Amino acid sequence: MEKDIPSTSILRHVLVFAAHAALAAIVMAFVFAFRSVDEIYLGWIPLLTTGFIVFSLFSVNYIVMVHLGRSDAPSVIMADVALLLTIFSSLLCIFFGQFYVMPVAFLALIIGTDVDKHVALSAHFTCVSVIAACMMLFFYQSPDFTLASVTLQLMTLIVNVGMGCLLIFLIKPYSSRLRVLAVAGVTVISFGVVGFIAAAAVTSGPDVMTMLTVGISVILGGAISLFAYFCLSPVFERVFNLNTGLRLMELCSYDQPLLKELEEKAPGTYNHSLTVANIAERAAYLVGENPVLAKAAALFHDIGKMENPEFFTENQTDGYNPHDDLIPEASVKMITRHTEAGAKLLDEKGFPKEIVSAALQHHGDSSVGYFYHKAQNITEGTLEEKGYTYPGPKPQTKINAIIMIADISEAATRSVRPSTREELVTLVDKLVQQKMNDRQFDECPITIAELTKVKEAVVNTLMGVHHERIAYNTLDKKK
Ligand SMILES: [Fe+2]
Ligand SMILES: [Fe+2]
Repeated sequence: MEKDIPSTSILRHVLVFAAHAALAAIVMAFVFAFRSVDEIYLGWIPLLTTGFIVFSLFSVNYIVMVHLGRSDAPSVIMADVALLLTIFSSLLCIFFGQFYVMPVAFLALIIGTDVDKHVALSAHFTCVSVIAACMMLFFYQSPDFTLASVTLQLMTLIVNVGMGCLLIFLIKPYSSRLRVLAVAGVTVISFGVVGFIAAAAVTSGPDVMTMLTVGISVILGGAISLFAYFCLSPVFERVFNLNTGLRLMELCSYDQPLLKELEEKAPGTYNHSLTVANIAERAAYLVGENPVLAKAAALFHDIGKMENPEFFTENQTDGYNPHDDLIPEASVKMITRHTEAGAKLLDEKGFPKEIVSAALQHHGDSSVGYFYHKAQNITEGTLEEKGYTYPGPKPQTKINAIIMIADISEAATRSVRPSTREELVTLVDKLVQQKMNDRQFDECPITIAELTKVKEAVVNTLMGVHHERIAYNTLDKKK
């Protein structure tokens, strides 16, 4: 199974740089093919110089992706495919005389929602810089070249940079299609007006016809981007196994066969997962993470328990506990294997890697305390904890840390059964403190302030779930 942390081998980097050199050559061939119809000699020096600039821009984008920790093969390939599509479509518009139509917002939308906002910003700047470089090459010693038209084109490109950046900022990865349409529609029209006004600054007169052409072209470029995004997003999410909002919603749906199987084989775990999912969704929202991803990951976090559901207390309804017949070492093996088994199953079924990692990391490398103490009693206190822990790794993301907290809190609330809100708050505080003492959050970027928000989400959700038996305060309890 794939590890979460991408491979950083030198060979892999060399291969990616070689691939980017090939992509730069393809872009140059594309410009050259259209330019050659002018039958005007295009020297090798400008061609090679532009090719080197394009290669450098692609490479810088890749270096940024490595730095952001998003250099996994699907993300890199997807970013390059989206970059090429956007560059070619914008250049085609220029080659066919539509100088101000640039559907560059497509890249911002698709990378921003399907990969990462920071990667989207980097790819967006790479894309417009490559288009600017190719535009200069296309007009180099060309009869179509006029300083005024190229200035206007560059100004239109800058307006499109602003539009792309705002779209990256405004569109959330879990936004519904209707929201994307509404927000992007308003943004595109607004930038059409910006283009209209900006054109006045660079045309003499001002030339109203040119201003209108630029304004309408900006809107047309945005509309083409939006149309391409809606058409290609489902294709990209299938091909690159992405966790777009729509796909995550599908995974959270009751129709999901794996969830139905979990409900059938392990109803206790299924109900536990539903509550953990509600907590995770709320907590993720509060700390600015993707709530739909958190919900989907939490729904499947214990899917590995389907292998042997009767070994987990939440599924033991008939009073029979198979651990009574096992030595503690065997019990621990039966329990801890559900993380790796779940991750393996989800990986085989093609689930997004974030959901696979939540199944693997939600217990970190914590010890299975109950069976460790049971074994300690048998061996009279001299026992290493090592063989009684989950295999890990510790949570690597905020969402996986949230699921860890939601998971232990839900399970503990069922067994400790706090009867007031204060008791529940104390319990959740204690559980999170234990995990911190156990250094389970050392490998993920969650802050103390965010942990406080997660605890708040845990308490509020569990109060809602167990409202019939948890009073809001001690006065309520006495009533
Ligand atoms: Fe679990
Ligand atoms: Fe769980």
